[in-house]
Amino acid sequence: MSVPKLAIQKVSKNFGAMTALAATDLTVARGEFICIVGPSGCGKSTLFNLISGVLSPDSGQILIDGHDVTGKSGHVGYMLQKDLLLPWMTVIDNIVLGARLRGSVSHAQRKEGAVLAERYGLGEFIDHYPASLSGGMRQRVALMRTLAMKPDVMLLDEPFGALDSQTRLSMQQWLLTVWAEQQSTVIFVTHDIDEAIYLADRVVVMSPRPGRVQQILPVDLPRPRLLSSLTSSSFTLLKRQILDLIYNDHAAQESPING
Ligand SMILES: Nc1ncnc2c1ncn2[C@@H]1O[C@H](COP(=O)(O)OP(=O)(O)O)[C@@H](O)[C@H]1O
Ligand SMILES: [Mg+2]
Repeated sequence: MSVPKLAIQKVSKNFGAMTALAATDLTVARGEFICIVGPSGCGKSTLFNLISGVLSPDSGQILIDGHDVTGKSGHVGYMLQKDLLLPWMTVIDNIVLGARLRGSVSHAQRKEGAVLAERYGLGEFIDHYPASLSGGMRQRVALMRTLAMKPDVMLLDEPFGALDSQTRLSMQQWLLTVWAEQQSTVIFVTHDIDEAIYLADRVVVMSPRPGRVQQILPVDLPRPRLLSSLTSSSFTLLKRQILDLIYNDHAAQESPING
C-alpha cells in the first residue's frame, strides 16, 4: 500500500477545560477530495489549524507523505474561513501575497500569478482592486492566492459560504476543474451538504461537543461531476444518510417543535 498523502493519528486539542477536538483519525490519499461537514463549533477550523501547524495538538501526530509535520507550518496551502483580500492591493498583488510575506516576490512568481489569473478567468482584472470585483471573483482571487503557493495539499475552510447559490454552483464547477488540473489533494469544510456531495470523493461527518469524526461516507458519483449528479437517486440517498447522522446526533439536545 502506498503512503497516504495525509495521515491524522489520534490528534486532539483542548482549549482550557474544553475539548475542541477529541482524538481524531483521518487518512487522505494523494489526489483525493475530502469534504468535512458538521455543526458550528465542532472543531472543523481547529482541525485545519492543527493540520497547517497554526496550532499544536495536545496529543497525536500529523504526517504528510509519511513525514511527521506535527506543529510545523509551511506544508499545506490554507485558505482561512475569513480569507480577506487586501483592499489596497491589486488582484495580482493579492495573488502573490504569500510570496511577499515570505520575503520578496520574484519576477517569475509575478508572472506565474498572472498566468494563474489568465487560466482561471481573471486575466483582464489583474490590475483591478478587490472592490471592483464580484463576490465570486473575489473568492477566486483568494483561492488563487492559495494556489500560487503550489501546495500539494489544500485546506479550504467554507470558501463559498458567503456566495449566492448560483455563483456558488459555478465556483464549485470551477474548483473541480482546478483540482483536476493541479492534481492536488483537497480538504474542504462546508455547512452545505449538497456542496459536500457534489465535490467530494468522501464526506466526513463530524459531531459536536467534543468534536470527532462520526462517520465517513464514500460518494459513488462518476467524475466529472455533472449538474445531473445533483438530482440522481444516489445523490438523494446519500444526502438522506448524512442528514440522518447530523439530526439524530442533535435530536437528544433539541426539544420538539410541534405539539
Ligand atoms: N483559539 C481558541 N481559543 C479558545 N477556544 C477556541 C479557539 N478556537 C476555537 N475555539 C473553540 O473551539 C470550538 C471549536 O471551534 P472551531 O474549530 O472554530 O469550530 P468550527 O470551525 O467547527 O465551527 C468552539 O467551541 C470554539 O469556540
Ligand atoms: Mg469554522
